[in-house]
Amino acid sequence: MTVPKFALSENSEAAVGKSRAEVIVLGTVQAGGQAELAPGAEAVDAAFEGKLAEVLRTLGATGKAEEIVKLPTLGKLNAGVVLAVGLGKAGESGEITAEQVRRAAGAAARSLTGTDRAFSTLSAVDLQAAVEGTALGAYSFTEYKSEPGDAAVSKVDFASPAEGTARDHKATLKAATSIAEAVIIARDLINTPPNDLFPASFADRAKKLAEQNGLEFEVLDEKALKRKGYGGILGVGGGSARQPRLVRLAYRGAKPVKKIALVGKGITFDSGGISIKPAANMDHMTSDMSGAAGVLASVVLAAKLKYPLEVIAHIPLAENLPSGTSYRPGDVLSMYGGKTVEVLNTDAEGRLVLADAMVRAAEDDPDYLIETSTLTGAQVVALGNRTAGIMGSDDFRDRVAEIARATGEGGWAMPLPEELRADLDSRLADLANVTGHRWGGMLAAGIFLREFVADELPWVHIDIAGPSFNTSGPWGYTGKGGTGVPVRTIAAVLADIAANG
Ligand code: BES
Ligand code: MN
Ligand code: ZN
Repeated sequence: MTVPKFALSENSEAAVGKSRAEVIVLGTVQAGGQAELAPGAEAVDAAFEGKLAEVLRTLGATGKAEEIVKLPTLGKLNAGVVLAVGLGKAGESGEITAEQVRRAAGAAARSLTGTDRAFSTLSAVDLQAAVEGTALGAYSFTEYKSEPGDAAVSKVDFASPAEGTARDHKATLKAATSIAEAVIIARDLINTPPNDLFPASFADRAKKLAEQNGLEFEVLDEKALKRKGYGGILGVGGGSARQPRLVRLAYRGAKPVKKIALVGKGITFDSGGISIKPAANMDHMTSDMSGAAGVLASVVLAAKLKYPLEVIAHIPLAENLPSGTSYRPGDVLSMYGGKTVEVLNTDAEGRLVLADAMVRAAEDDPDYLIETSTLTGAQVVALGNRTAGIMGSDDFRDRVAEIARATGEGGWAMPLPEELRADLDSRLADLANVTGHRWGGMLAAGIFLREFVADELPWVHIDIAGPSFNTSGPWGYTGKGGTGVPVRTIAAVLADIAANG
């Protein structure tokens, strides 16, 4: 899937009146239980002699978040319909957050299916958020439908904000479009079913993206993995006829200020292996490569936005299946770098492939390590479906958690309690892959990973088990299926490191 065609427009009465769009989108805010027009809607309101808010209220508009009210223009504008979307309540001094705009733009885009061209004034409030929300809300994955159904809106003109130069606006439009495109790269990968997306085919797609974006590319197949001693990836991937891979993509910006390693969990399907999962909802485990999709999209985005950084992504890819060649509970794996791990549960496979990749990633001598994975059901128990669990070294963890919330993706800093480490002791090996109890499962997984992080390397582990895949209804700019979380968080962390070191 691609984003609609976007352009910038003036936000004058003349421009709105003559717009060739079929639908004009504007925002409403909730003020004392009734709708008021959001900033940016003035030119549209003028065509209604200043009575637009009153008309919308008569139609029941309250301005609450994501509320949609449509109104025929009856010849007052060239466009046939005004679509008012709720932003929710404004802050104390009237401020509207980027995430309010992003969600409203997403909700509006979802109700624009079947429309060819729209004009949005939400961009007058926040251009970047309006573009991202529109692009992501318009997304749907129809690759496997014989009849694609109503098409998403194909062109959107964005009213320029009052502040800033045309040049700034153009740059913002371009950056926001690139960010949305990266999220969509991740969503497309997550939504591709596991019979078509397996370790080798994921690696092929990564290679194509690397070629298109001038990234260095390397892939290790099962023979190379064996030769180099990647026991974690080989152990987990051994049960599938479709053998594992380790992909490396590198972007080097001009005069890079820092080097960042990205690692993403790429289990193309997680049945649990011999420690097999229950049948109910096992199909959700098609999304167990969301971390891999996220870091692949992020390194591509770093190149598109030309960050002054070196970004190196390592993506371990394996399919976790039960078979005569599977690894078993009781096995001891010899990991990349030499540590040994006793496997007590083959369903705790993510940490095994990640450990190998993280040790390899540290060999490039990065300044920061960002790892993300659909690692534990315990993340969903602790934080729900929309809030990632963020662990790692204290300062970097807190920095990433704050940025995650600022992007609207959400995330919360979580501890790595020292007492859990002893519960990973193994009778046979250096470490066991599970604790043998359920308590603090998200944190125990983080503590396992910490054993494979190079000394002194600032690192963060982002558990996206819940937020990566939307199994309920659409909301804001998030449809069903792959969400693309945490691409926007990683992008914002990279931008922050580029600016502040
Ligand atoms: N991929 C799963 C985690 C998961 C669960 C992601 C639900 C998304 C939604 C992971 O490999 C897994 O199976 N983890 C186990 C760990 C346990 C065996 C210690 C889990 O969470 O049950
Ligand atoms: Mn598992
Ligand atoms: Zn898994």
